[in-house]
Amino acid sequence: MQAVAFDAVGAGPSPVDLPTPQPGPGEMLVRVKASSVNGFDLAAIGGMFQGIFEYNFPVVLGKDFAGTVEAIGEGVTRVSPGVSVFGVVAKPVLGDGGFAEYLVIAEQSPWATVPNGLDPQHAAALGLAATAARTAVDALGLSRGETVLVSGATGGVGSYAIQFAAEWGATVIATARPGEEAAFVRRMGAAHTVDYTAGLAAQVREIAPDGVAAVLHLAGDGAQLASLRSAKGRLVSTLSFTPDESATAVIAQPDPDTLAKLAAAAAEGRLRVPVQRTYPLAEAPRALDDFASGTLGKLVIVID
Ligand SMILES: NC(=O)c1ccc[n+]([C@@H]2O[C@H](COP(=O)([O-])OP(=O)(O)OC[C@H]3O[C@@H](n4cnc5c(N)ncnc54)[C@H](OP(=O)(O)O)[C@@H]3O)[C@@H](O)[C@H]2O)c1
Repeated sequence: MQAVAFDAVGAGPSPVDLPTPQPGPGEMLVRVKASSVNGFDLAAIGGMFQGIFEYNFPVVLGKDFAGTVEAIGEGVTRVSPGVSVFGVVAKPVLGDGGFAEYLVIAEQSPWATVPNGLDPQHAAALGLAATAARTAVDALGLSRGETVLVSGATGGVGSYAIQFAAEWGATVIATARPGEEAAFVRRMGAAHTVDYTAGLAAQVREIAPDGVAAVLHLAGDGAQLASLRSAKGRLVSTLSFTPDESATAVIAQPDPDTLAKLAAAAAEGRLRVPVQRTYPLAEAPRALDDFASGTLGKLVIVID
């Protein structure tokens, strides 16, 4: 099968031909139709998970996947061949990924069926980013009318987080440069935009003179963002930044129930899935470069 993988920490990812995996007991083989780019992919290439996960080279990239069940192993009961599924690759060893024509996952891993009204490309853009946003916004414990500053609002996690916070009735201040970025975050539900490249603190203070009730730290200078909170303001970070007891570090919790709810919301049009651009599998390395330069929403890899 065709895949995009890297051979060593720091080595550039490239298209490779690998043996098609076969499902063992309790596993299913997915014919992958789409995946998407996450910061996890760049971190894996950069070796940031050394000491946390074992690297089994060549490491196929892609935490997200959407596709069709091709075959099931012994003992699998919840799914049969032909069903459309999507989810997050969650294995203790880095090696398998969604940037490949086929992927084996455990029946007990984070996946859900793709509902009618949602195509694989949009399903593949939910996975890690939308579950991270869900976990992060839940951890903020927002109340109606509270002001939340989302830093890193233009990315995949940010674009979902804005929507979840606005859905709660919070007033969202989103980081975005004027123009296309500002228009994008407003479409996601932001009430205000602030340009992080032009005196962020002053812009935030103008909107919230006593500080914001909550900060969602997805990018940027954590210490500066923490200083923009009100006296009892909270901070939630996906970047492990916890300067004090009012701050919480979160990691995405992509369980099947959360994935199913996100997919239903997307299929029913209650959740926007902003796909900025799609790339064929062989161009996944370019998608990773583009991701590193900043995105508006999600970059999706399409596998024919
Ligand atoms: N802990 C977890 O489980 C978990 C799960 C998912 C993601 N994450 C992490 O959460 C972060 C966000 O993920 P993502 O997938 O949304 O990444 P992303 O798509 O790269 O989004 C980050 C966005 O922040 C913008 N940005 C860069 N520097 C900024 C700054 N100083 N202030 C404000 N915005 C800035 C970038 O756009 P411009 O450069 O164009 O401005 C980019 O659009 C990443 O660091 C990722 O690794 C953690």
